[in-house]
Amino acid sequence: MLMRNTQDRFGFVAIFLHWLMAIVLIGLVILGLYMTRIPISLDKLKLFGWHKEWGILALMLVIVRLAWRLLNTTPTLNELPWWEKIGARAAHWAFYFFMLAIPISGWLMTSAAGLPASFFGWFVLPDLVTPSEQNRILFAVTHKWLAYGLIATFCVHVAAALKHYVINKDEILQRMLWP
Ligand code: HEM
Repeated sequence: MLMRNTQDRFGFVAIFLHWLMAIVLIGLVILGLYMTRIPISLDKLKLFGWHKEWGILALMLVIVRLAWRLLNTTPTLNELPWWEKIGARAAHWAFYFFMLAIPISGWLMTSAAGLPASFFGWFVLPDLVTPSEQNRILFAVTHKWLAYGLIATFCVHVAAALKHYVINKDEILQRMLWP
């Protein structure tokens, strides 16, 4: 099986990280939107804890993914018109930006709230800033709008992938399905 990317195909590692992160991020967005909209209760606090744990995992995964992306060649988009090529690459780099900035802003928010962020009981993240209510609100608003940016990029990305499958009938979607 092809592990690394080539000029015209994604390898197993890139495909695996793509779909694993897609599942983790969709879960985190749904959980984040839900847990912030329910009344305060023990369940709500439990969901906040899960959100932080899986959010830290997402941060670790994106570091691995970014390293893999930078150490590998990426399949070309040469068959696409120039505007679609620029749009696709812009969306991909926007994803990396959001995937890094969202968990870091969550970590900053939790630090500013003076609350711990545990990674499945293995370790607790060090505080990045001293507790401050003003900063907690600032990071919470930043975290929320970055997450909305991620959702918007996701919608464009999925629409573009479906357009290639249904209208252009090319291999763009299929090459992210199997190596
Ligand atoms: C890629 C990873 C992450 C995604 C996609 C994500 C997404 C979200 C979303 C959509 C919300 C709801 C925002 C709203 O509508 O108010 C939220 C809230 C929240 N997230 Fe995250 N999050 C991530 C990582 C993290 C991490 C790593 C932490 C902390 C260590 C964290 C802590 C929180 C907290 C405390 C809230 C509640 C904010 C409030 O009370 O207003 N998140 N997140």
